[in-house]
Amino acid sequence: MNADFSHRLCVAPMLDWTDRHCRAFLRVLAPRARLYTEMVVAQAILHGDRKRLLDYHPSEHPLALQFGGSDPAVLAAACEAASAWQYDEYNLNLGCPSDRVQSGLFGAVLMKMPQRVAGCLKAMQAVSPVPVTAKIRIGVDELDSEAWLEDFVALLAESGVRTVIVHARKAWLKGLSPKENREVPPLEYERVERLQQHFPDLHFVLNGGIDNRAQANAWLGRFPGIMLGRAAYHNPWLLRQLHADLWPAIPLPASRKQAVEQFLPYVEAHCAAGAGLQHITRHMLGLFQGLPGARQWRRMLTEQARATGAGPELLLQAMQQVDETEEGACHVHHA
Ligand SMILES: Cc1cc2nc3c(=O)[nH]c(=O)nc-3n(C[C@H](O)[C@H](O)[C@H](O)COP(=O)(O)O)c2cc1C
Repeated sequence: MNADFSHRLCVAPMLDWTDRHCRAFLRVLAPRARLYTEMVVAQAILHGDRKRLLDYHPSEHPLALQFGGSDPAVLAAACEAASAWQYDEYNLNLGCPSDRVQSGLFGAVLMKMPQRVAGCLKAMQAVSPVPVTAKIRIGVDELDSEAWLEDFVALLAESGVRTVIVHARKAWLKGLSPKENREVPPLEYERVERLQQHFPDLHFVLNGGIDNRAQANAWLGRFPGIMLGRAAYHNPWLLRQLHADLWPAIPLPASRKQAVEQFLPYVEAHCAAGAGLQHITRHMLGLFQGLPGARQWRRMLTEQARATGAGPELLLQAMQQVDETEEGACHVHHA
């Protein structure tokens, strides 16, 4: 598999989680990973506070902006409005099952309207200087046969999409909460493999349930790219390990503590601008997962980051609580 493919290692779009601070932090751990924004509703870009919705730190490249929307004209206008921000990719969310999202006609419910999806993607493509990609499920409600999925993906290809991210489970729009929709429908990786065989000219990025190094590396041998969501968020060091496996020549933080140190200038700038430390630290709680002192690290950050005047020094104090040299012992212990 091509190590230079742009989507070799991706971090999933996650509402309320992968905001700009989260992404800036993950960037320190994985300089070449492709990051995705939270879903941004196209209509909001047209009528809302664009700076708040679209601003990001230059270090976040390569960075994809994920849209929620179902109106070709609105999506195209949103792509144009976002162009000044110079994202590296626009992605259309066709996989999110939430009620709120359904009522606005975004996400997985759109997989029931393939012609509409094609119209959206073509309209986005027509105005976008960067690639337009789609994030899908393997099925939605009763629409989940192999033939139906192939037809759907063929339509994506006809619309000009070359890279398709597939969350390898179907979505049940009635009766399951969004959280259950990420856990209950079974993962069917083999169906995504068959898609890749069926459409050799497309690049499929495998998503869903990838949560450890061995498994991720095995999938990297069979797919052009993988996308990690929850595991990357809860155990960000995993991203650093996968990055080391993929691109051994690229320098990375040698330890978790070094990653914190490398991130301090970003934290300092944020706090100097008067913003709350907790907005950043809430995304760093999982960094020392599995190590002695990890609980104290989490507790200090959660309890003290909100205090007036809390700044980067809290991170340095909190990481004193962790013994990173114990990693080997701890790893064996958990195995
Ligand atoms: C808190 C949370 C928010 C999410 N928000 C989005 C979103 O905005 N857009 C989207 O396409 N998927 C969203 N997802 C789904 C993820 O992108 C991903 O497809 C899913 O979590 C499966 O991958 P994982 O098993 O590696 O976490 C969200 C998932 C979580 C846990």
